[in-house]
Amino acid sequence: MNQIKVELGERSYPIFIGTGILPKLKEMLDSIGLGRSVAVITNTTVDKLYGSQLRAILQLSAEGERFIVIPDGERYKVLKTVEGIYTRLLEVGCERNTTILAFGGGVVGDIAGFAAATFLRGVPYVQVPTTLLAQVDSSVGGKVGVNHPKGKNLIGAFYQPRLVCIDVSVLQTLPERELMAGLAEVVKYGVIWDADFFNFLAENFPKLVGLEFAMMEKVVQRCCEIKSEVVAQDEREKNLRMILNFGHTVGHALEAVTGYKRFRHGEAVALGMRSEAKMALARGFLSRTEFEKLENLLNQIKIKATLQGIETDALHSAMKLDKKVRDGKLRIVLPKKLGQVVICDDVEKPIIMVGLRYLVGDRRS
Ligand SMILES: NC(=O)c1ccc[n+]([C@@H]2O[C@H](COP(=O)([O-])OP(=O)(O)OC[C@H]3O[C@@H](n4cnc5c(N)ncnc54)[C@H](O)[C@@H]3O)[C@@H](O)[C@H]2O)c1
Ligand SMILES: [Zn+2]
Repeated sequence: MNQIKVELGERSYPIFIGTGILPKLKEMLDSIGLGRSVAVITNTTVDKLYGSQLRAILQLSAEGERFIVIPDGERYKVLKTVEGIYTRLLEVGCERNTTILAFGGGVVGDIAGFAAATFLRGVPYVQVPTTLLAQVDSSVGGKVGVNHPKGKNLIGAFYQPRLVCIDVSVLQTLPERELMAGLAEVVKYGVIWDADFFNFLAENFPKLVGLEFAMMEKVVQRCCEIKSEVVAQDEREKNLRMILNFGHTVGHALEAVTGYKRFRHGEAVALGMRSEAKMALARGFLSRTEFEKLENLLNQIKIKATLQGIETDALHSAMKLDKKVRDGKLRIVLPKKLGQVVICDDVEKPIIMVGLRYLVGDRRS
């Protein structure tokens, strides 16, 4: 089992990573004094797969009164679900010293973290992420929240967990499409921060797709190290943390114009990275050789959804509505080279359009 520390002063916390480490969860909680009163939040899918195992590990009753199971799906990431959670927490006598444990993918993590940030003005919480995306991204960094009818993740807080426990062996039940979506975020870390890691991924990608745990463990660890480092330097996304948005300006636009129904988030990010890499090439940042290296790796991420019917103008309009627009300026994270990016707020429209056309298969440029 490996350990990483997220350095945030008095809010610092450990991330434990390993294969088959879930049975040690109780000890981990006890070691930081959080084991005595725990309430788990999970969803129906994860509960069916791992619920009884987790109940046994945490010595919770089989009736599961402190095991709150919400329905599965992004559409339940809303305040109404959180309200239901507060009610249950109150009914079963949870107090200021109760630890909320998020057990699931990014949706469960974001909801449970938000519930923890707000219940009784904040109780400790712990992340036990079960999707690859949640293990390398959403469980680390303290962004918690829910969606609003007017947009995704508009209601939320920065609220750091007290501990993150990542057992990569639970990925064995993850549907292939979810694995691919998570791998997109993995590739992102190589591009924004670490050229050696990028090369390592390029060489070993089939092993990751084949879910070789030893390899997966290493990769998840490197991603968490990079995210921790970025978050430690800029917890509240004033500047550096924005680099984590590489692929996301176009990615979010793709999700928005398709009503958040067609793409998995990671799929949209993989496509967004292709498009934004093309912009970087057009702007003279990325060399053609490196652009092609990135393309080759991204092409190994299978994407189920099609780009059919998506228009570049609609994408451009959606980009301008994104949260990342500040003072009316569109911000795009562009790779200078593999392993290094810059945050640009002056990308000219013709260059943006080159990237968008490249994506939807219209090669006029
Ligand atoms: N807080 C952040 O910093 C941050 C960062 C990125 C994404 N997010 C959020 O994360 C969410 C997406 O997370 P996600 O991709 O994990 O989706 P998800 O939570 O919907 O999980 C995907 C699917 O996998 C299932 N699942 C989970 N673990 C499983 C397992 N071990 N075996 C089999 N099935 C399993 C889930 O039930 C679900 O059906 C979005 O809401 C997004 O906004 C948050
Ligand atoms: Zn993302």
